[in-house]
Amino acid sequence: MRILTGLQPSGKLHVGNYFGAMEPAVRLQDEGEGFYFIADYHAMTSTQDPAALRENVRELAVDFLACGLDPSRSVFFRQSAVPEVNELAWILSTVCPMSLLEKCHSYKDKVSKGIAASHGLFAYPVLMAADILLYDSNKVPVGKDQKQHLEVTRDIAVKLNEAFGEGTLVLPDPIIREDTAVVVGLDGQKMSKSYNNTLPIFGQEKELKKRIMRIVTDSTAVEDPKPTENSTILALYKLFASEADYDAMVSDHQRGGCGYGDFKKRLAEAYWEFFAPMRARRDEITADPGYVEEVLRAGADRARAEATKVLDRVRKAVGLR
Ligand code: ADP
Ligand code: TRP
Repeated sequence: MRILTGLQPSGKLHVGNYFGAMEPAVRLQDEGEGFYFIADYHAMTSTQDPAALRENVRELAVDFLACGLDPSRSVFFRQSAVPEVNELAWILSTVCPMSLLEKCHSYKDKVSKGIAASHGLFAYPVLMAADILLYDSNKVPVGKDQKQHLEVTRDIAVKLNEAFGEGTLVLPDPIIREDTAVVVGLDGQKMSKSYNNTLPIFGQEKELKKRIMRIVTDSTAVEDPKPTENSTILALYKLFASEADYDAMVSDHQRGGCGYGDFKKRLAEAYWEFFAPMRARRDEITADPGYVEEVLRAGADRARAEATKVLDRVRKAVGLR
């Protein structure tokens, strides 16, 4: 079984990304052959800063490896290292009805957020379909926001198979992480870099712990019981603390006598400790400058070998060979 997913290189990884995307991807390495890539072509739909793109790709690669992506088990590569994906995207675009793309909400959402309405942004789901179909992927783990893109991918694959022969493309199944609760940000909304409410997973201790002190709380006095419903501190603490420590914090809320400052301190400690192994791994990786390049190069070779096979099959089916 082949599992494939892509992540956009778009800035510092935060706790929401970790629990929503990285951790599930790392866990799935036990269940099949993982193909994981850094979606740098996709990132071009929202940034036009070459230095930032290069930096973000490198940072994401380091972060992903530090979080447990194992390059001896999984194929890890950057999207643009396999330019064949563009040829498949073109072929797919010739069978993709306009109406299918016009229905996609991510385009409208992004334009309404101020991203330029380019053709690339509009056609993005076709490139994403090519990302998936180029590797005969069986399972594609994604967040809820990508569900529609997986439907588009299947629709395009069905169209191409109808036109040029069953079996030309493999139909992928999404693994939608419905169960991953949305990680809350420091202000109680969904954690997202667009809301400036994130808790990055890597960075300087003092600065990061200080961010936790920014969590918005009510004005209940130290000695009084505190609400446990919709508590940002408790929601975040649950992700990092042991069950016993979490239960202790809940009862400290209910009893009263502990202030929010104390809860935040406990949260900061638990968070710092949780990511300690990843931080150590990250330091090891950055101490060896050639390592990441080598991993991505070897991954690209393996990905490209697979891509060439599939693309040849498609070229023959459509009459390009
Ligand atoms: P952001 O909202 O910060 O821009 P992205 O949209 O780039 O994050 O998300 C990248 C991945 O991380 C997606 O798979 C998304 O589902 C996941 N993700 C992002 N924020 C959260 C969150 N607050 N809770 C759970 N998963 C999240
Ligand atoms: N569109 C995805 C996102 O924004 C990233 C992505 C690109 C992807 N190609 C993919 C995810 C292929 C899964 C499969 O998060």
